[in-house]
Amino acid sequence: MSRWRLSAAGRIVAVYLVVSVLWIVLSDQIVAAVVSEGSEQVVQSYKGIAFVLVTAALIYALIRQHSKRLEAEAQRVEDAYDQTLLGWAAALDLRDRSTAQHTERVTLLTVSLARRMGVGHDELMRVRRGALLHDIGKMGVPDAILTKPGPLTDDEWVQMRQHPALALRFLDGIEYLRDCLDIPSCHHEKWDGSGYPRGLSGAQIPLQARMFAVVDVYDAVTSKRPYREPMPRDEALDLIRQGSGSHFDPDVVEQFVGLVTEGPALAAGPLGRD
Ligand SMILES: [Fe+2]
Repeated sequence: MSRWRLSAAGRIVAVYLVVSVLWIVLSDQIVAAVVSEGSEQVVQSYKGIAFVLVTAALIYALIRQHSKRLEAEAQRVEDAYDQTLLGWAAALDLRDRSTAQHTERVTLLTVSLARRMGVGHDELMRVRRGALLHDIGKMGVPDAILTKPGPLTDDEWVQMRQHPALALRFLDGIEYLRDCLDIPSCHHEKWDGSGYPRGLSGAQIPLQARMFAVVDVYDAVTSKRPYREPMPRDEALDLIRQGSGSHFDPDVVEQFVGLVTEGPALAAGPLGRD
């Protein structure tokens, strides 16, 4: 059965052919039956124009219908991509048990911050995907280091600090994620150039990563850990302000403080669960 299914282009051409043949066969007979002798010439001219208009409208409707079907299909594919990313993020949170739901919270807050800073719709999608995958590179860090209860040794820190570079290696071959790597690869860079892995500074650090860095630290200190209680909001904001111009982009800090202090609904939502 499916071997004989017409493609969209084939269906459009088939409909066009059927309408054209019917028009040729029937229109002359209708004109002859309805129009009086003498005015046939004029009607024949209008008939040609009517044919062009009718077939143009028909083809337009068919193409539009097909485009809508393609758009719906593209949206389904996008949704499937996002669901895959959510699965990866959940797997990461599960592995790194001390930061349960960390990924969900930082993603929501980073997207809110980006929206506040005027980031456009397409870019927001990249921010969201990048935030979901920010620590995907930790998949390459051994459990003994990732879940170690005590402080890391110097050698272990060297391995832990590989995770932004590992994220690049993991994701660079995935075409639809290639535009979403700013956060996974640069979220530990610092405004003054003292971060890692590349020691970028100021505007060299992609804006997405500068925004995410603030959110990531804020979420870390306001979350409960086995070895400490969560820091109160105002204390955490003071800590963020102290990092303005050294760890963080001052403009981003200003916008972030505004977002958290002016948006009680947001702060009480996903951020308020720990
Ligand atoms: Fe990280």
